[in-house]
Amino acid sequence: MRTFRREPDTRKRRRPLKAQVMIDRDFAIGETDRRLFGAFIEHLGRCVYGGIYEPGHPTADEKGFRGDVMALVKELAPTIMRYPGGNFVSGYNWEDGVGPVEQRPRRLDLAWMSTEPNTFGTNEFMDWCRKTGIEPMLAVNLGTRGADAARNYVEYCNHPGGTALSDLRRQHGWQAPHDVKFWCLGNEMDGPWQMETKTAWQYGRAAAEAAKMMLWIDPSLTLAACGSSSRNMPSFGAWEQEVLEHTFDHVDFISLHTYLNNYKEDTRAFLASSDLMDSFIDEVVAIADAVAAKRRSSKRIMLSFDEWNVWYRTRGKREGRTVPGWPVAPSILEEAYNMEDALAFGGACISLLNHADRIKSACLAQLVNAIAPIMTETGGPAWRQTIFYPFAQMSNLGRGRVLRAAVESPTYSATYYDPRGTQELYFPLPEVPYLKLSAVHDPEGGHVTLFALNRNLDEPLALEADLRGFEGMAVSQATVLRNDDLKAVNTKEQPDRVNLAPLEGVEWSGGRLGARLPPASWCVIRLSPTG
Ligand code: AHR
Repeated sequence: MRTFRREPDTRKRRRPLKAQVMIDRDFAIGETDRRLFGAFIEHLGRCVYGGIYEPGHPTADEKGFRGDVMALVKELAPTIMRYPGGNFVSGYNWEDGVGPVEQRPRRLDLAWMSTEPNTFGTNEFMDWCRKTGIEPMLAVNLGTRGADAARNYVEYCNHPGGTALSDLRRQHGWQAPHDVKFWCLGNEMDGPWQMETKTAWQYGRAAAEAAKMMLWIDPSLTLAACGSSSRNMPSFGAWEQEVLEHTFDHVDFISLHTYLNNYKEDTRAFLASSDLMDSFIDEVVAIADAVAAKRRSSKRIMLSFDEWNVWYRTRGKREGRTVPGWPVAPSILEEAYNMEDALAFGGACISLLNHADRIKSACLAQLVNAIAPIMTETGGPAWRQTIFYPFAQMSNLGRGRVLRAAVESPTYSATYYDPRGTQELYFPLPEVPYLKLSAVHDPEGGHVTLFALNRNLDEPLALEADLRGFEGMAVSQATVLRNDDLKAVNTKEQPDRVNLAPLEGVEWSGGRLGARLPPASWCVIRLSPTG
């Protein structure tokens, strides 16, 4: 459906850049699942301690949950929350985080070279989820532990009572089962940085056995197996195939992780990089369906994009991203997101929406302070990072049927750099449309929302959209996120430097929408029924 044309050199061209879109109410890619709009809380840096949880903070409630953070979380609107890791989970004993707080052990966390005080654990997380109205997603440790600890964790959380572990939960003060439905079978088990990394065969076997036992305890669980920790892992593809050969009958999901980067300070390539997420998704779908085909199975494994974001400044090697001396909750991975990060991030939002037929779960990594849309000062205020806005708009306005959009846009070429260990990897992107777009129809409210990214850094794009089957509508919202300075960030002192502004001049008549998308901008336009 999508056709692109290469735009001639801008020095020879006089007419404004134009992109045309055609959408029909009857043609949809799929429905967005509620779980597409998830996020992630790991015991990492100040994500938990000083992030969501800070007893003694002026806004904290009786449980120590920061009220200012909860207010921003409400605005951000994540629907499901992954916990407790990430790399952390591969060395985690869930038992350390339950029971009387004063008896909980302090442990060395080898993922982030910190001391974990365990004053926040599973039950506190459940309380936080209930209070914020967010579905919990738990990960089990398939690194240093295995199927036995995993099945015990399920029994502790989900069994009503009458057994040692379920009664232990009740004794700890949580009478009703937590009823956690979505469980991740470990985390990034293909990565050598992981505690007890595994081969695909080792992981596939361990995950299948853990899954089998977890499901025997609670057949209502939805399980996700670990896919590759990034598309450029050397084992990508072979990993998914082998893991699914082992786990196909037990799991519903395979996971994907992507962190977009701008290591080379090449903004055009950075903004193009979310198109590689599209390829990654298509490739994982193909592999999952190939495994199904070999079994003559009509079962479709869905995708859980359970870590995605922009991350590069505070990434690099272990030594560079940790603080010596085993501190508690060090200020690590506190990426300050700028305007261009928000644009690349917006491209990733569009990639997720446009694959709503197969991505039925996704988690922005992470929620607070560590590579996060929300920043806090311990003891001080909380504020929105630039990436907060595209996510909040996607989650609040992107529920419904994602429509097929035929986009005709001028293109550019770029080469994206995504290193693997010490290797320099370059990915050519010869035909990157300046316009990246998703259209979502909310059948209940009758709204249609366009999420549009103009990746041209210098020129506006004249958007002409033909929306068939949408009579009796009017423009109800039109916003733009842009800043003359692509390096602009929000800080404690200037929390609103990058913020949404009205997008002026949107025209709608006779089923045709016209708008001018400023250079390097993220625009959201919503049409709503007039009657
Ligand atoms: O989100 C930060 C880290 O990135 C996670 O702990 C890990 O799973 C990934 O490598």
